[in-house]
Amino acid sequence: MNLKDKIAEYPNFPKKGILFRDFSPILKDPSALTEIADEFSKYFHTKDIDVFAGIESRGFILACILASRYNKGMMMIRKAGKLPGKTVKLSYTIEYGKDTIEIQKDIIEKGQRVLICDDLLATGGTAKASAKLIEKVGGKVSGFAFIIELTELNGMKGISSYNCKSLVKY
Ligand code: PRP
Ligand code: HPA
Repeated sequence: MNLKDKIAEYPNFPKKGILFRDFSPILKDPSALTEIADEFSKYFHTKDIDVFAGIESRGFILACILASRYNKGMMMIRKAGKLPGKTVKLSYTIEYGKDTIEIQKDIIEKGQRVLICDDLLATGGTAKASAKLIEKVGGKVSGFAFIIELTELNGMKGISSYNCKSLVKY
């Protein structure tokens, strides 16, 4: 199966001039879901991963698919203000302004190896901040899994010290 055929394109969403890549057709197709798990499991070895982390919100979906395939757990990296209990926050710059992500303070045991998951890599700002956040709470980043990579935006540059894999490149 060509996964690219299962990614829809929406011109001028959410803003004029943006061509939005939507992975909804993948989610709807059970064989595409299996293929995603198959592809990542060829690349990341189970012995290098203790837990998966999903970046809100579409990253949660990939993290759960992979956690289930690898028989591991998952945790959520959320936009600020949505997680209960003690949390740790990290702010980073986006195209216009600032965004803040957050994780529960005690969710990671010291030295646990975390594979970070998201649907899409664009500028890489969110991914880089997520790695810093995992490290801030004592985790070790074992890599990044993305379904889609927008190569022109050079997001891989900011996370090149990690083991990264994307399945569909534009
Ligand atoms: C999108 C995407 C990534 C991020 C990529 O999420 O799912 O998380 O942007 O952008 P970057 O590489 O330039 O940082 P969005 O903030 O739209 O959240 P959503 O998944 O809740 O729609
Ligand atoms: N699709 C989905 N999410 C995104 C995109 C896109 O093309 N660009 C930045 N976030």
